[in-house]
Amino acid sequence: FEVNWNAEAAEKGGFEHFMLKEIHEQPKAVRDTMSQRIAKDGKRIVMNELKWNADFLNNFNKVYIVACGTAYHAGLVGKFYIEKLARIPVEVDVASEFRYRDPIVDENTLLIVVSQSGETSDTLAALKESKRRGAQTLALTNVVGSSIAREADQVLYTWAGPEIAVASTKAYTTQLILFFMLALYMAEIKGTLPDDEIAHFVSMLQQVPAQISETLSDVEPIKTFAKQYGFNEDVFYIGRSLDYDVALEGALKLKEISYIHAEAYAAGELKHGTLALIVEGVPVIALATQKSVYEKTLSNIKEVKARDAVVIGIAAAGDEELEKYVDHVIHVPETDELLIPILTVVPLQLLAYYAAITRGCDVDKPRNLAKSVTVE
Ligand code: G6P
Repeated sequence: FEVNWNAEAAEKGGFEHFMLKEIHEQPKAVRDTMSQRIAKDGKRIVMNELKWNADFLNNFNKVYIVACGTAYHAGLVGKFYIEKLARIPVEVDVASEFRYRDPIVDENTLLIVVSQSGETSDTLAALKESKRRGAQTLALTNVVGSSIAREADQVLYTWAGPEIAVASTKAYTTQLILFFMLALYMAEIKGTLPDDEIAHFVSMLQQVPAQISETLSDVEPIKTFAKQYGFNEDVFYIGRSLDYDVALEGALKLKEISYIHAEAYAAGELKHGTLALIVEGVPVIALATQKSVYEKTLSNIKEVKARDAVVIGIAAAGDEELEKYVDHVIHVPETDELLIPILTVVPLQLLAYYAAITRGCDVDKPRNLAKSVTVE
């Protein structure tokens, strides 16, 4: 009798890579992010860590969100949520730019830093500099007791559990959940949303874990696309509004682990240059989930199709329109369009993963990249 066992294989819980394991952990991770933060009646958000009131929030005429990499992409979605729901102007910046550009930060600024590890040096420096200028600071992080958690005035933990793969997945989805809850919490305090609308959002939120599981239950079409298109050297991601923010994250995932050149473009901006690169056979991943800009996105999709791109559309269940204009469609469960980024990013994570596998890349440890960048 021989036991074939090694510690790393055991930690991967039956998955071939940490990244795949972490992608599949997302339903649990987002459930953990939410737990303790929804009122017993299921109608409100509670943030016991913050205990903010109207006086505190009315102090701020501006919110800055500062982060690096994937956390920065989460910040872009966070801006959308806070502006839409709580009606406070938000600026988002990458930490390495923010810290050196003499930003307009004072005691009327709320600075939110986002960092999975809580150790990224540029993000930490941006946080220290903002504190020095008098800002109130809040950290969204995954690591309890990390440098950023200790330095910030207040902390919200994502509770995603350890993320080992260099390419971030469950940290991103939990950051999105946390931003959504924070924006709702701010809206409650500021009175910018009626109670029934808040209750509606809270109930939609609670469906997200099961909807991610549903998205994860059928990966075969994605594996097929990865095999079909995994050897292309350029891939474009397009979308408008929140779809654009997710496109940026999808393109980053592909670049990080499969080394395919990927570019995300705001769909309406294509004609200002990028369209020149869309030629026959170039794969374009087109996200079309945002109802307010749906027709506009569709017309951009027609532009790339007219140049013979191969288009994979990402749409909400029930959308029967998109398939008329694209080569393939991946559907995600229907939810409020504010929450759909948490679902649409999942097939993009999987596409990057399987493309990297197709190309024989070292998924969990991509070349030249580190999980946590603690030097400049
Ligand atoms: C590194 C990682 C990225 C991550 C970024 C920010 O570049 O490779 O996956 O998004 O750092 O990390 P943080 O821990 O601050 O979220």
